[in-house]
Amino acid sequence: MPKKGPKGNMRVVELFAGVGGFRVGLERASDHFDTVWSNQWEPARKKQDASAIYVARFGADGHSNTDISTVPVRDIPDHDLLVGGFPCQDYSVARTLNKADGLVGKKGVLWWEIHRILKAKEPGYFFLENVDRLLKSPATQRGRDFAVMLASLADLGYAVEWRVINAADYGMPQRRRRVFFLGYHKSTPLGKKLVATKRPENWLLRKGIFAEAFPAQAKDGKTIRSRIEGDLAEVTEHFNNGPHSRNGPFGNAGVMVDRTVDTLAVIADHHGKGTTLGDVLLPLDEVPAEFFIPEAKRKAWMYLKGSKRERRTNAANGFSYDYMEGAMAFPDALDKPARTIITGEGGSSPSRFKHVVCMPDGRLRRLTPVELERLNMFPDGHTAGTADGRRAFLMGNALVTGVIERVGKVLERRVKG
Ligand SMILES: C[S@@+](CC[C@H](N)C(=O)[O-])C[C@H]1O[C@@H](n2cnc3c(N)ncnc32)[C@H](O)[C@@H]1O
Repeated sequence: MPKKGPKGNMRVVELFAGVGGFRVGLERASDHFDTVWSNQWEPARKKQDASAIYVARFGADGHSNTDISTVPVRDIPDHDLLVGGFPCQDYSVARTLNKADGLVGKKGVLWWEIHRILKAKEPGYFFLENVDRLLKSPATQRGRDFAVMLASLADLGYAVEWRVINAADYGMPQRRRRVFFLGYHKSTPLGKKLVATKRPENWLLRKGIFAEAFPAQAKDGKTIRSRIEGDLAEVTEHFNNGPHSRNGPFGNAGVMVDRTVDTLAVIADHHGKGTTLGDVLLPLDEVPAEFFIPEAKRKAWMYLKGSKRERRTNAANGFSYDYMEGAMAFPDALDKPARTIITGEGGSSPSRFKHVVCMPDGRLRRLTPVELERLNMFPDGHTAGTADGRRAFLMGNALVTGVIERVGKVLERRVKG
């Protein structure tokens, strides 16, 4: 494992950096986090605006704008903490005859890029983010992808804790539920502590980094223990692949040490004041005219937001079917946290999922880029420099930086012992 950086700083590498959500959160948590290298590349896009914004905010030093799968590990500096938000894809592993260890993951699956870097660089810690669906995917073999991921991390010498966190449950302005993972190399003081823990529920409810940053209570029942057996091809083939495979085994909190998994269903234990969508809105006179919904478009928005039950025909095969969906809040409530921002939030065309707020004068409008930044707790204007629709897209891809900040504060203190 590499030694700590100068002055005891934690050297951070940020993968899949987007516009730098991890960096914003960690830098706010402590000046001990020192991002030494970052990588961001948007596939099949000429204009690399996320990377350009990253460079504009943090400088070009140590930033790479190439497909991570083409970056040799020798180009990545030694670091103590690897961070990044990566996609939920098919993590299955197949057996081959012509590879040294006879095992290979699917091409283009970004988990294996993270794995390659962890294997070569052995940072003491990692902090990763994904959609919570990862704990239950694929639908035919619930939890298999996460089991492959955990097993591959155990084999690299990491102990792991995970937690599903909805930022709004802890007073933040957006209902955004994501799964976060912290990994501790077993040679680090934190790794040794997790390995030595006799009662995993103590770690999950009191002693762990997530438990300290985001207090929680057991929802019902106790921790459930299981083991992930076999090489990665066997995990792929057999994990939860029986007649009872409907529910995955992974709860919203858990730890894994040496392939033994202890998991627990928890609920947030937070009583502070919450931030609402209304709290992030700009004064009316600062909202540009194009964000207001013209009277003539109101009906189209109402239709898309409304509940419906109608007969539809599939254009490709001519089959008719009944289509049903419930109503969305319209306009969005100002006294609650916002819904999850998705990448399609920008642009003026009517949509079911874009937020719409009602002004005191009765006019309806969409959210501005600055308001979307505030919902993710980025500084105002962080994504300025590209088109409004793209700014919305970049916020849909990003994360609530307040989550990173809270974990960063606890991690920094606990890493010191
Ligand atoms: C979920 S987003 C992470 C956003 C980031 N956490 C933020 O705060 O903006 C994943 C990012 O990975 C980038 N990406 C996808 N494939 C990549 C690849 N092969 N190499 C490098 N980056 C990639 C995407 O462009 C996207 O910005």
